[in-house]
Amino acid sequence: MALLDGDIVIAALDILTKDVVHAGSRYCVGGLSTVATRLDRRGQGHGHRLVQNARETMLQTGHDLGIFTCDRPLQPFCEHAGWEHLPGAVLLGGTREDPFPSDQAPFDKVTLGAFFTSVARRARHTFHGARIELYPGTIDKLW
Ligand SMILES: CC(C)(COP(=O)(O)OP(=O)(O)OC[C@H]1O[C@@H](n2cnc3c(N)ncnc32)[C@H](O)[C@@H]1OP(=O)(O)O)[C@@H](O)C(=O)NCCC(=O)NCCS
Repeated sequence: MALLDGDIVIAALDILTKDVVHAGSRYCVGGLSTVATRLDRRGQGHGHRLVQNARETMLQTGHDLGIFTCDRPLQPFCEHAGWEHLPGAVLLGGTREDPFPSDQAPFDKVTLGAFFTSVARRARHTFHGARIELYPGTIDKLW
């Protein structure tokens, strides 16, 4: 997704999608990656608008839930855009053979989520404090 001013990209992010099996159930999971606003346009609400919109887009495009990590100082930014903090949740990135967990040193990351379908909402508690086997591969190693 990109926010344009004429032909200038002001802010952009990627929505990534993957089926994930967690606590015995399979979910269509969306994630955010490479959220960025141009240096000279930061602090004007563009990032907020895009991250909020990404959540709406995931909801409308058949995802059961959205989940991603961000640096701890950005937690309020994500929460204001409609994402909820999942206390103690850790995303296992990378691959099953070569995992890239979100709680590795020196990272200080928190996990954010949004639960769209009734199946996902009922399972919300299983994501708190869980190590979630995302394994998105070797390119976007961690959402
Ligand atoms: C994070 C980022 C996308 C925010 O974009 P933005 O367009 O400036 O965001 P907004 O103007 O919508 O800011 C919304 C709020 O987030 C806060 N915020 C922005 N960057 C922050 C940061 N690095 N640390 C803490 N808070 C931050 C702003 O202070 C603002 O808070 P306020 O409304 O209480 O004043 C932008 O700072 C950026 O591109 N950073 C570098 C890349 C990055 O860190 N991406 C995040 C990966 S999850």
